[in-house]
Amino acid sequence: MEKLIRVAIDGPAGAGKSTMAKLLAKEMGIEYIDTGAMYRAIALKLIRTGTDYSDPEALDAVLKTTDVDFSDGKVMLDGEPAEAYIRTPEVSEMASASSAVLAVREKLVALQRAMGQRKSVVMDGRDIGTNVLKDAECKIYLDASPRVRAERRAKELAAKGLPCDVDAVEEDIRQRDYRDMHREHNPLAKADDAAVIDSSYLTIPQVVEVMRAVIEEKTR
Ligand code: DC
Repeated sequence: MEKLIRVAIDGPAGAGKSTMAKLLAKEMGIEYIDTGAMYRAIALKLIRTGTDYSDPEALDAVLKTTDVDFSDGKVMLDGEPAEAYIRTPEVSEMASASSAVLAVREKLVALQRAMGQRKSVVMDGRDIGTNVLKDAECKIYLDASPRVRAERRAKELAAKGLPCDVDAVEEDIRQRDYRDMHREHNPLAKADDAAVIDSSYLTIPQVVEVMRAVIEEKTR
């Protein structure tokens, strides 16, 4: 049987995890699993059904009848492509709040573990190395300073014709980091055995190069 290789990439929002994870998965010929997209898909369902996630019975009823999966690398909600609807500010806000709820995490973590058990994957998120795939062959914690992440985000928005105040974006990022790192269940944290890469002053090819070296070293 071919050896499974699980690459777990964690880090704060905007550090470049999904860009790097996608590139590496393609290069390695294995699947990329964007766990943030799964939390976003659940958030979309909560919004569409008008469910109050703080009501345990209502939440339970929705979770029991909700199917989140991937098809051709794209997240599917109840069998329908969801990618086009999950990157709005409304869904981001709902995903941030509802991903702190234990029942939501239990459902998605079980699915993510099952995905990482049967095949080689690159999986990115907040709790992959510390919780979902604790036994991953390779763990990477990808970081970047709040200022640099804010500048990158502001550039993306400006390119879309949506100029913004970098200081306000930075403040928003700091608040999101705080929430992700201080929630009760599976907070964002570096696993003890993760390699830390700070992407603040590296280009995308440079980060990929460093990550490739880490993966080679750990999976040799
Ligand atoms: O990475 P992202 O911005 O797409 O993630 C969406 C939300 O889901 C974000 O608020 C953090 C949360 N999340 C999480 O709690 N655990 C994960 N493994 C991935 C994402």
